Amino acid sequence: MLHGRRIVNESIETIRDEILACKKCPLWETNNKYVPGEGNSHSRIVFVGEAPGREEDLQGRPFVGAAGKLLTQMIEKVLRLERRDVFITNILKCRPPDNRDPLPEEIEACTPYLLRQLEAIKPEVIVCLGRHSASFIFDIFGIDFPGISRVKGVANEVNGTKIIAIYHPAAILYRPQLREDYEKDFKKIASLIKKNRKTTLLDFL
Ligand code: URA
Ligand code: SF4
Repeated sequence: MLHGRRIVNESIETIRDEILACKKCPLWETNNKYVPGEGNSHSRIVFVGEAPGREEDLQGRPFVGAAGKLLTQMIEKVLRLERRDVFITNILKCRPPDNRDPLPEEIEACTPYLLRQLEAIKPEVIVCLGRHSASFIFDIFGIDFPGISRVKGVANEVNGTKIIAIYHPAAILYRPQLREDYEKDFKKIASLIKKNRKTTLLDFL
C-alpha cells in the first residue's frame, strides 16, 4: 500500500480523467495539455520522469521530445521492449513554465495522482528518471536518498517492489560521454525484469 491509502481496483482511465480536469495547483492555467502518462496499465515496469517539457505539453504525451527519443531507444534496444509495453509518466502532470524545477507545493498537489497510478498498475519495477523523481519515490518507499549520482543504477527492494533510479535522459543528451554507462544501467534494469519473471511451462519447452 502506498501513502497510507487503499484504493481497490481503481482504473488507470479513472485517474487520467481526473487529471484532465485538475485545478489543484496553478500549472493548469499555463499548460497547453495535461500529460497524465501512457502505456500498458498491466506493465511490470513503470518509468517516472520529472515533468512534461515543451513538446510533451503540446502533444499531451510523456517523453516525446529529444530526451524521450533517447528513453524510447533504450527501452527498445536494451530492454527489448516496445514503448507501448511499458507505462511512462511523470511526477507532475503539467509543464512548469520555461521547464523550471517543480515547486514543492506542486509536487505535493500532483503526486497523489502518481501514487494512485502506481497502486492501479502495481508494477514490479519502478524506474526513477532523474533526481526529482528519485527523491520523491525513494522517500515514499522509505529509502535513503543521498543524491542521484550516489544511488543511480542500484536496485532497492521494498515489499516486493524493485525501485531503481537512473539519470534523466536529458542529462545524457548534455553529457554524451555518459551514454555507455547509461546503457549499463538499462542492462541492470533488464536483469531486474528477468529475475522477477515468473517461470512458465513455456520456459521448459
Ligand atoms: N522530461 C521529463 O521529465 N518528462 C517528460 O515527459 C519529458 C521530458
Ligand atoms: Fe493538477 Fe498536477 Fe496539473 Fe497541478 S500539475 S494542475 S496538480 S495535474
